[in-house]
Amino acid sequence: MSLKNRKIIVGITGGIAAYKTPNLIRLLKKDEAEVRSIMTSSATKFITALTIETVSQNPVSVEMFPEDRFAGTHHIDMADWPDLFVIAPATANFIAKVASGICDDLLSTVICATRKPILIAPAMNTNMYLNPITQKNIKFLKELGYQFIDPNEGELACNVVGWGRMAEPEEIYSYILKQFQKKKSLSNKKVLVTAGPCREAIDPVRYISNRSSGKMGYALASAAKDAGAEVTLVSGPSSLSDPSGIKVIKVESTDEMYHAVKERFPQSDILIMAAAPADFTPEIVEKRKMKKSDSMVLRLKPTIDILSSLRRQRKNQKIIGFALETDRGPENALAKLKAKALDMIVLNMMEKQTPFDSDLNRVTIIYKNGKTEKTALMPKTKLAEILIEKIATLK
Ligand SMILES: Cc1cc2nc3c(=O)[nH]c(=O)nc-3n(C[C@H](O)[C@H](O)[C@H](O)COP(=O)(O)O)c2cc1C
Repeated sequence: MSLKNRKIIVGITGGIAAYKTPNLIRLLKKDEAEVRSIMTSSATKFITALTIETVSQNPVSVEMFPEDRFAGTHHIDMADWPDLFVIAPATANFIAKVASGICDDLLSTVICATRKPILIAPAMNTNMYLNPITQKNIKFLKELGYQFIDPNEGELACNVVGWGRMAEPEEIYSYILKQFQKKKSLSNKKVLVTAGPCREAIDPVRYISNRSSGKMGYALASAAKDAGAEVTLVSGPSSLSDPSGIKVIKVESTDEMYHAVKERFPQSDILIMAAAPADFTPEIVEKRKMKKSDSMVLRLKPTIDILSSLRRQRKNQKIIGFALETDRGPENALAKLKAKALDMIVLNMMEKQTPFDSDLNRVTIIYKNGKTEKTALMPKTKLAEILIEKIATLK
C-alpha cells in the first residue's frame, strides 16, 4: 500500500541526526505522501530549511511570529492538517517540552494543539537518553498514547557507542507505513453513543438537570469514528459542536433519549452509554410559568431506566455503561454492571479533580469478569481512544 493522499508533518528539532531527515522525507514523498515540515530554530543550525523545502516541495515553517507575512493562527491550521506528525529527530529538550506542555516555539505549540497521532523518533547522546528525567518523560508520553520509535544502539556523533542513535529513515518509514496499514479496530461496526445531560421540565422555562458537559461522550464518538465505526451520537443539551462524520440526534429529556436509543439499538453492534440521564422527573409539568407567589412542592417520580429497558431487544450487542460515584465507587459500579448485564463499566469518582466539564479525566474500568484497571489522569480525547481500543477487544 502506498501513502497516496496521506498528509504528514515532519517536525525537525536540533540534533545532529537532522541530516538524515531529508532521506525520510524523500521516502515518504516517493510513496506519494504530502509532506510539510516544521523546524525548530536549533534544527536550522544543523540543516537548512532550503534543503527540507526542496525535498518536501513545500515551504518550511520555523517562526511562531514570522515577520515577512501574516500568519494568523497558522499553528491551529497546522495542528489540524495532517493525518500524522513525525518528530525526527526529537531532542531531549523537545521531548521534555512536550511532556510538560510547554509551547514556546512553533513546533511545540502545534504539537500541543493537535489531536492527531504523533510519532516521536528520539535521537541524542546516551547519557541524555538514559537520563532518568528523559526516561520519565518518554514513559509518561507513551502512557498518554504518543508513539515512539526507539533509538538504536550504535556510534553516536559524540564518538561514543551507545543508545541514542535515531532509528534509520527506512525504519521510520516502515513504521509509518504499518500505522496506515493497520486494520481499524471497529471497521464495519455500528456504534451508538449517548452523551451529555438530560433536562426534565418543571414548567415551560425551568428544568432539573445535572452538570454533565458531554465532553467524554463526544470524545468517545469521535474515537469510535476514527477506529472505523459508523457512529450515531444521541446527545442531551451540550454546548459542544457536532463532531464531523457522525450522525447526531439531539434530545432534551431522559424519555426522549430512551426513545432515540431504543429505535437505533437493534441495528447497533455496540452501545456506549456515556450520557447522564436524569434519575427523577417532575410528576407534573406545569403548563404555565410558575410564579414566586405560587406555593411550590416539587414531587418527583423515577425516570425510565434506559439500560434495563433495552434488555428484551438485546441480541449480541456489547453494552458499556458509565458510573459516577461519590463513595464506595468500585462496589457500586460492579453492582450496576451486574444489574444491567453490562460488558464493561467506566467508573468516574467525584474527587478533588471533578470529571464534570473538565478536559481531563481519570477512570477505573471494570469488566464483567470483575477485572479492574485504573487509568492515569489524561485528556478525555486520549482516554476515549484508550477506551475504544478496549471496547473493540471485548469478548
Ligand atoms: C553539535 C550539537 C549536536 C547536538 N545533538 C543533539 C542531539 O542529537 N540530541 C539532543 O537532544 N540534543 C542535541 N544537541 C543539543 C540541542 O541542540 C539543544 O538542546 C537545543 O536546545 C535543542 O533545541 P530544540 O529542541 O528546540 O530543537 C546538540 C547540540 C550541538 C551543539
